[in-house]
Amino acid sequence: MSNERSNQSYQLIAHRGLPQDYPENTLIGYQHALALPIDMLEIDLHFTKDKQLVVIHDDTIDRTSNGKGKVKDYTLEELKKFDFGSYHDKRFKDEQIPTFDEVLDIHSKSSKKLLIEIKKPSQYPGIEKMIVDKLKDYHIPSSKVILQSFDFESINKLAQMNVPYELGVLISKKKYWYKSPDFKAIAEIANYINPNYSIVNKHFMEKAHVEHLKVMPYTVNDSKEARKLIDLHVDGIITDIPDRL
Ligand code: G3P
Ligand code: CA
Repeated sequence: MSNERSNQSYQLIAHRGLPQDYPENTLIGYQHALALPIDMLEIDLHFTKDKQLVVIHDDTIDRTSNGKGKVKDYTLEELKKFDFGSYHDKRFKDEQIPTFDEVLDIHSKSSKKLLIEIKKPSQYPGIEKMIVDKLKDYHIPSSKVILQSFDFESINKLAQMNVPYELGVLISKKKYWYKSPDFKAIAEIANYINPNYSIVNKHFMEKAHVEHLKVMPYTVNDSKEARKLIDLHVDGIITDIPDRL
């Protein structure tokens, strides 16, 4: 952690790189994020048709590239031909979809942690083992990685594999109001419960901390909201604007 923030008790996490200044989930965004006094970089993983791990938020390329269609219907070679920068600004037209390998390569040169979200794991059988194998290939120290997903079963799989990394279960607003999560069950498999920030209140924090679960809400882009969450003793803040918050 940098000197500027060395007296802070919470982690600062750059969500998808720096998506307000650079195209989200791209190498240029990650490089700039890793140069800031943040603690972690958050990324989203999917599988290609030829089972390569790529970093992108949506399961289609429609919103963030000049192409259309599902990530899982393209090979890596095909995906690499699309422009993943111009949707943000023409000057980023050369940005490609990053592979997990490319991200691990730049991450391994930094001291920051990687918060890896496994997107739609039920669509991608075997994705958990593929991720863990890659982390081992790159000799990433276990203290530098947290694996998280909205999918409880995917995190359960990782827990059953006895992976050496910390694990987190993400909680959406919709799912929370539909059915309150089982904090005890989550604590049996994971270290973190990471909710939509609007769910977090004193009661939520008490329930999490009774089970020794750490809490890192997403996506906090308002400094008043961040202050409120810090006063509630959250363990981290996931934000698009770590430099301005
Ligand atoms: O890290 C948590 C957050 O990224 C989850 O929401 O939709 O931005 O991936 P989303
Ligand atoms: Ca995410």
